[in-house]
Amino acid sequence: MATLLHIQSSPRGDRSASIAVAKHFIATYQATNGSDRIETLDLWEAALPEFDGDTINAKYAVLNGQEHTPEQVAAWDAVVKIADQFKSADKILLSLPVWNFSIPYKLKHYIDILAQPGLTFSFSPEEGYKGLVIGKPLVVIHARGGAYGPGSGAESYDQQSAYIKQIFGFLGFTDIREILVEPTLSPTKDETVEAAKLFAAKLAAEF
Ligand SMILES: Cc1cc2nc3c(=O)[nH]c(=O)nc-3n(C[C@H](O)[C@H](O)[C@H](O)COP(=O)(O)O)c2cc1C
Repeated sequence: MATLLHIQSSPRGDRSASIAVAKHFIATYQATNGSDRIETLDLWEAALPEFDGDTINAKYAVLNGQEHTPEQVAAWDAVVKIADQFKSADKILLSLPVWNFSIPYKLKHYIDILAQPGLTFSFSPEEGYKGLVIGKPLVVIHARGGAYGPGSGAESYDQQSAYIKQIFGFLGFTDIREILVEPTLSPTKDETVEAAKLFAAKLAAEF
């Protein structure tokens, strides 16, 4: 039995295009993988620990091979809990809106917690940086008000897709598939969402 973790980063619930497509993906996935577990992490409901001074010092202590202070132990435990949930999943589905050409701040907060030495990446002078989250497929659903996909002429504005591929690639992901839901701020929104759902169903059937 595999676990599929859905990381949800729109706060718009039933009005969200990215969540609607993700729900369709999950329904199709469940039809072919009935015994798999689906876990949802709603980043707007989750109690994400602050990425504050103690946490940053805990991160640098790991990088420098130093012991954690009691404050850093507490901060690091909270980080480990988030990373463990992520790493215990076999497959990841990430759905997100574009916000100001990039990703919503809750997702950036989550990524800042997740990207940690010894947990999701390693560093050594000999080998440099190495991603530690290996062998897991990732499907990313990008919802956008405008259109930035290939052939749109606005590709250079898209710092959403480029960043997601870069950071998850850094953590070790090599199998990253994308579903574009765009443009949603348009009279053709319903057709756009339906077309994305069709593509999502295709990817889900072979995920
Ligand atoms: C704060 C904010 C910033 C946004 N910035 C952009 C943007 O830079 N480019 C764009 O095309 N759409 C932008 N949008 C529109 C959303 O990306 C679009 O409505 C998308 O469908 C939202 O996904 P969701 O329905 O899953 O929340 C923005 C929306 C919000 C709320």
